[in-house]
Parts: sequence; C-alpha cells; structure tokens
Amino acid sequence: MIKIQRHPKLADVAAFISRLNSNLEHHIGYCGKKMDEIFNTLEEDFGDIPARESFFIATESDKVVGVCGFDADNERGKAEIWGPFVDRADALKVSNLLWESTIKEIPNTIQTVSLFPDNHNLMVVDLANRYSFDSVSKETILTCSKQSFRRVNNDNVIPLISEHYNSLIKLHNQIFPNSYLTGTEMVDGLSETSTVFGAVDEHSNLPGYLYTEAEPEFGEGSIEFFGVTPLVRNKGLGTSLLAKGLEWLFTFPSIEEVTLCVQSDNSKAIRLYKRLGFQIEHQLTFFEKTLDKSGVN
Ligand SMILES: CC(C)(COP(=O)(O)OP(=O)(O)OC[C@H]1O[C@@H](n2cnc3c(N)ncnc32)[C@H](O)[C@@H]1OP(=O)(O)O)[C@@H](O)C(=O)NCCC(=O)NCCS
Repeated sequence: MIKIQRHPKLADVAAFISRLNSNLEHHIGYCGKKMDEIFNTLEEDFGDIPARESFFIATESDKVVGVCGFDADNERGKAEIWGPFVDRADALKVSNLLWESTIKEIPNTIQTVSLFPDNHNLMVVDLANRYSFDSVSKETILTCSKQSFRRVNNDNVIPLISEHYNSLIKLHNQIFPNSYLTGTEMVDGLSETSTVFGAVDEHSNLPGYLYTEAEPEFGEGSIEFFGVTPLVRNKGLGTSLLAKGLEWLFTFPSIEEVTLCVQSDNSKAIRLYKRLGFQIEHQLTFFEKTLDKSGVN
C-alpha cells in the first residue's frame, strides 16, 4: 500500500531526486543531479517555506517510491514544483497522490505554480495537461566541459565594479524585464562566487554584460544572464563576454562543467553557445498555472 507522508527526511528526498533526475524521462529542470548539492539547496538555500514543510514522500513497505514538493517565493507569489518524481510501475497513481497532497499545502501567498519537466518526462507533461497548465515556453539546457571549451580573445571584457552598477541594473532590466532576478537583486548578491563581466566603452557606457555563478563546493558553475544592447550586436562582443565568463568559472579547480538555460527559440544564442563548446543536455517545457483559490485545481 502507498503511504504519503509529510515532513520527510531531507536526506531521503535528496537521494531519491538525485537518483531519478539524471534520467531524461524523470528530469525536472529546477533540481540538480548531485545528491550533496540537492541536499544543500533543500537545507540551506530553499524558498520562503522550509523544504521539510513543503515536501511529501510516497512510500511502499517503507521504501521511498515518490517525492514532490514546492519552492515558494512569497514576494513574487510563485512556487516551483519539484516533481512529482515517481519510481514505480503505476507511476500515474502515485504522482496524482503526491500532486494532490502538495497542492493542498501551497499557502494563500502563492498565486501561480509552475512545472519544468524535460520533454521526455511524459508523466509530468501529462500532469500539466490534465491540470490545465499553460505551456509558457520551451527551454534548452546546455553544458560546456573544461575540455570542450574553445577559448577566444576577450581582452575587451572586464569584471564590473561598483561605479558600473547603475548602468548594469538598467541594462539588465531592459534586456530581461521579467526574470527571476532584478538588476538590483543581482548587484546586491554579488560575491566571490558570483560575478559580472562587461565591456565599458570610451564614454563609460556599458554595451554588454554577463552574470555568472560558481558553486566550487559542488564542482559546478552557471551562466545566469548574458546580454548585449541591440545596437552593438553582431560585432563579437557576446562571444568575448561568454568566453570571459567561462574562463573565470574554469579558474576554480573543482569546476569541470558549466550549465545554462536558454529559450529554445533563441537560435542565435544557442549557435553562439555551441561555437564555444556547449552541447544540448535537456529540452524542457515551462508550464504555469494560476491557482483557483476556491480550491478547485
Ligand atoms: C545573444 C547575444 C548576447 C549575442 O551577442 P552578440 O554580441 O550579438 O554576439 P556575437 O556578435 O559574438 O555573435 C553574434 C553573431 O555575430 C557574428 N559576428 C561576430 N563578430 C562579427 C563581426 N566582427 N562581423 C560580422 N559578424 C560578426 C557571429 O558570428 C554571430 O553570427 P550568427 O548569429 O550567425 O551565429 C545578444 O544577441 C543578446 O543580447 N540577445 C538578447 C539576450 C539574450 O538572448 N541572451 C542570451 C540568452 S540568456
């Protein structure tokens, strides 16, 4: 018999997600693949509701067969659904039970929930369709290894410092007006492991920037944002920015691989990524749904 339990041990949740998330047919783009990294995110870097409160596990004869939870952002009124992950023959039944339990716990501060399955994850794609989620965008995750990185000259690109931050905030908000991070939040969070590179012209204008995050403790790095102002595109600046970001990430001895996510119809950016050594790892769909607060979901 299947039991759905709240307040699971986060180590069990992390171990289960880590085992399933490397397979295309179980993959959810919000979650990592390495157990220690997932555990650390759940324990220390989760949303506004602690992971222990927001996750459910499904067990059968004390064996974990499914996991689902949500990462809530109260200020934006959004929650990302981690899962459902199910490893069992009748996955549909377990995924429905997990989904129903999870959705009931979503607080009133949240208006919108989202799912982010790999297109091969038919169980979650099907769940999105059955529960009338909107298919908002198609996304592609690419990775570049230290070995495949093709270096190019990037002498025109420098690490940005506080005197550039106003221009940076303006450019970021112009190019990515609806992103998960505003320009001000990006600048406020800069640290030894998250940095911004840019090209500053002779009039102190900032025509392009790249924001990158390193997680040396987990051997990973990511390109989070990357943009060039329209008038200056197609002159090689994007290529130099990307090369600089990768070069910096690969100075961390533990970092062997860099990941990024881009809209699948952004063929220009994907061509650029591939030229510098990135390969496509996942093709995903971003689904969103506005919750019906009368309880009919
Ligand atoms: C993606 C983006 C950053 C690329 O920046 P860019 O400065 O135009 O990039 P580059 O100039 O290096 O390369 C773009 C093209 O110009 C070409 N190019 C580069 N230098 C050139 C030169 N000197 N003369 C002629 N063409 C040149 C490149 O070969 C490339 O051609 P392609 O599109 O046919 O593959 C930019 O288009 C952008 O800001 N887009 C909006 C935000 C975005 O999509 N960001 C990425 C996803 S997060």
